[in-house]
Amino acid sequence: MAKKFLEISQVGIEFPTPNGVFCALRGVDFAINEGEFVSIIGHSGCGKSTVLNIVAGLYQATEGGVILDGKEVDEPGPDRAVVFQSHALMPWLSVYENVALGVEQVFKGRKNRAQMKSWIEHNLELVKMDHAMHKMPHEISGGMKQRVGIARCLAMQPKVMLMDEPFGALDALTRANLQDSVMEIQKELNTTVILITHDVDEAVLMSDKIVMMSNGPAARVGEILTIELPRPRERLALAKSDQFNFYRQQVLSFLYEKKGVVDFDEAKKQRAVPDQTKDTVEKIS
Ligand SMILES: Nc1ncnc2c1ncn2[C@@H]1O[C@H](COP(=O)(O)OP(=O)(O)O)[C@@H](O)[C@H]1O
Ligand SMILES: [Mg+2]
Repeated sequence: MAKKFLEISQVGIEFPTPNGVFCALRGVDFAINEGEFVSIIGHSGCGKSTVLNIVAGLYQATEGGVILDGKEVDEPGPDRAVVFQSHALMPWLSVYENVALGVEQVFKGRKNRAQMKSWIEHNLELVKMDHAMHKMPHEISGGMKQRVGIARCLAMQPKVMLMDEPFGALDALTRANLQDSVMEIQKELNTTVILITHDVDEAVLMSDKIVMMSNGPAARVGEILTIELPRPRERLALAKSDQFNFYRQQVLSFLYEKKGVVDFDEAKKQRAVPDQTKDTVEKIS
């Protein structure tokens, strides 16, 4: 049985700015089960990365808190690995060495040299990068660098993988390939994932749950949509699926009709989706 694995409880955060205190989040509240794939979607600047940074332990919430597997999060740790939009590989280290960096940190004293080597190679195989393990970052494409970033995360065996718009900088075809790879790996390893995105199709395709955030300041969770599409999910078949398009409409409706709406009960009454929203906008921000 799935249990509440990660709880984000009534999280608020205020940032000091030259113009006074800025309240970015207020009362952000949701929970994630072990092995669940959850996306957070919202308009640019609403506070998605801030939520992720609080879960990562990089930011301290001003109110509320985060509990992961029964322990309060108050600093960064290897149990929460982050994949950023830009790959953040060390340019002077090879693909293999970049993954090794994380592995040595986490498994020091627990795996010997040979075990570490095979573990690094295994994770590079998972992301289909074993063929290029001795290449340097400048010798590989943007999509390949993101694959290495994902391998580095997976190899640390985090309790939760935090992905902040990891496909945002990639061309459409590379993005689709990488989305498929991440879905395959997530299914195989039962990884718990939080994915930040502003891409509606990506959120519906990949997620078990979509957390939709209202616009800031004082952004909060507007609605949570459960995606009950069977896995494995195949993008071509789903494009023709009524259920997929229904979910897509729900997210578009939230983002375009209710953005910044504080009175969510009122927003729910305005449910009907106008025809012109259909198939018009793929990406937001
Ligand atoms: N360290 C910070 N100091 C001040 N303001 C910040 C800081 N980090 C984020 N913000 C503000 O919080 C809001 C949410 O930012 P962010 O989480 O990056 O949005 P998103 O990822 O949804 O685009 C923005 O208005 C941003 O300017
Ligand atoms: Mg962001």
